Amino acid sequence: MNDVEDVITIDGPAASGKSSVARRVAGELGIPFVSSGLLYRVAALLVEEGAGDPGDEREVMARLTGTVVRLLPSLQGDRLTVDGRDVTDGLHTDAIDASVSAVARHPRVRAWVTERLREIPGPFVIDGRDMGTTVFPGARAKFYLTAPPEVRARRRVGERAADLREVADAMRRRDRLDAAQSAPAPDALHIDTGDLTLDEVVSQVMDALSGVGAA
Ligand code: C5P
Repeated sequence: MNDVEDVITIDGPAASGKSSVARRVAGELGIPFVSSGLLYRVAALLVEEGAGDPGDEREVMARLTGTVVRLLPSLQGDRLTVDGRDVTDGLHTDAIDASVSAVARHPRVRAWVTERLREIPGPFVIDGRDMGTTVFPGARAKFYLTAPPEVRARRRVGERAADLREVADAMRRRDRLDAAQSAPAPDALHIDTGDLTLDEVVSQVMDALSGVGAA
C-alpha cells in the first residue's frame, strides 16, 4: 500500500474544478495526478458495452473481476486500460455521466476501486468524492472544492457544448445520487471556486501546502 503521507486529496462535486486544480497542483509539485472517478467510469463503460444493468451489483462485479483494469497516472493525463485496450477517450460521455452514479453506489464496487487506488505508488495528487474520508484518511493534505450549482453547470456546458438546462438537471441528479459518498473530510480545507480563477484556486492550494511542508 502507498504511503499516505505522500498523498494530497482534492474532493468535491462534479465540475467544482477539482480535476483541473488537481492536475495543475500535481504539475507544480512535479508528481502524478490521479483521477479516481476514472475507475468508476470504467466500471460504467464495461456495463454499457455488455448492455448490462448498472443497478445490478453482482453483474458489475463480474465484469470488473473478469478483466485486468490498469490506471496509468501521468502528468499528461491518466490513461485507463482494460485488458490492454486504452479506453480513456470513451469515459467522459453523457451516457457514462448518466449511469456512473448507479455503478458507484455498490459497496463492492467502491471496495474494488479503493483497493486499486491504494495500490498506486505515491506520491500523487488525487481527486474524487471520498478520497480524504474513506480511501486516504491519513493523507498529508486534504482539500474540498465547491461552487454554486449554476456555476458548475455553466462550466460543464463549456466542456460538452450542451444545453444549460439539461446539463444543470443532469448535474443535480448526479449530486443527489453521489451525496452518500460526497461528505467533506472534517480536516479538509474548503475552497469555494465559484468566484475564483483556476490560477487563484491553485495558488490557494499551493499556499496551504507550503504550510504543511508538502510544497
Ligand atoms: O469525478 P468524476 O466526475 O469523474 O466521477 C464520476 C463519478 O464517479 C461520480 O459522479 C461518482 O458517482 C463516482 N465517484 C465516486 N467516488 C469518487 C470518485 C467518483 O463515487 N471518489
